[in-house]
Amino acid sequence: MGGGMSFPMMQFTKEKVVIVTGSNTGIGYETAKWIAMMGACVIMACRSKEKAQQAIQRMQEEFRMEKSMNTPGITDADSLNLEFMSLDLMSFKSTMAFTEAFKRSGRPLHILVCNAGLGLSPYELSEDGFERMFQVNYLSQFLLIVHLLPIMKTSGEDCRIVLVSSIAHKYASRFDVNSINYKGEPDKFSSSQYYFKSKEHQVMQMFSMNHRLQGSNVTITSLHPGLVKTEFSRYIQEMNCCWNCIGKCLWSGAFTRTPFEGAKTTIDAAVNPKWKGKGGIYFESCKETTPTPQTRNEEYQTVLWRHTLELLKNHLPSDVLSGLEGKNG
Ligand SMILES: NC(=O)c1ccc[n+]([C@@H]2O[C@H](COP(=O)([O-])OP(=O)(O)OC[C@H]3O[C@@H](n4cnc5c(N)ncnc54)[C@H](OP(=O)(O)O)[C@@H]3O)[C@@H](O)[C@H]2O)c1
Repeated sequence: MGGGMSFPMMQFTKEKVVIVTGSNTGIGYETAKWIAMMGACVIMACRSKEKAQQAIQRMQEEFRMEKSMNTPGITDADSLNLEFMSLDLMSFKSTMAFTEAFKRSGRPLHILVCNAGLGLSPYELSEDGFERMFQVNYLSQFLLIVHLLPIMKTSGEDCRIVLVSSIAHKYASRFDVNSINYKGEPDKFSSSQYYFKSKEHQVMQMFSMNHRLQGSNVTITSLHPGLVKTEFSRYIQEMNCCWNCIGKCLWSGAFTRTPFEGAKTTIDAAVNPKWKGKGGIYFESCKETTPTPQTRNEEYQTVLWRHTLELLKNHLPSDVLSGLEGKNG
């Protein structure tokens, strides 16, 4: 893994259980593949079975190729341990069905990578009544984490939650809890601003959750993966011509990382022994860095936390809630 930005190739067994959301393509694909190549069992939590199965087939082929090239550190198993599980973050029903199915499987959970996300997408309301980016990038992954946390807490030492956020959080406007779910006219919707906000919420969630995980076996971190050439820019052509130009220029290739380069920070946060026991960190290019003062504002974190619990109250039974008690209630 040469170069300045890298991750160590760990040796895992298939008893190491990892979930990567949105792993059928892009950064999530490379994250799932490389952690599986370290020997872990990786669950690909994706909304399309067909896309996930095609991705698994491609990963197995790429694994055989790596083996034929004697890539150091990869598992000597005959094939990768990859499984599809259905998860559509646009729906609380699907998110809850995923967590229930995982609980029923009786498996431990050592690493949860909340990678799935969409950006700069036109206004759409979910079946639960939330703006799409707010629900997919933030709310549903919050729900996923709080329901899987009890399993992680009993899964042995050094369990990790990694949130794939973005440097875009720096461009979020002043925090206002009343505007976190867009309720205005669809044609006045600013998809860039709501993307920035959703990524800011993830970083704030990381800090709030980190307080609650102090002294436990679970850590939570978040990161910016870099500007990465993936399917992320898929909605750009639907935006106004200004964003269309910016988007085309940004993701043209000249400034972008490959999906593998883009996955390095996530993989490092998930597996590097040097981060063991260290939560509440925001990474860029595999290095600790500082997110905006607004994300670090404890008053805003508390407001967001309480508001989120209120929005999700119908999906949070008392045992889940009691496991979340902390200094900001
Ligand atoms: N690319 C960049 O430059 C960049 C920069 C900063 C941060 N990020 C962040 O990196 C993460 C990964 O993005 P990427 O660049 O790899 O983008 P990508 O290629 O578009 O991949 C996004 C993944 O999220 C999944 N997803 C979208 N909506 C979903 C839903 N409702 N339920 C479940 N999964 C859903 C997609 O599934 P489908 O294929 O089925 O749509 C896909 O697997 C995102 O959180 C993004 O915000 C990316």
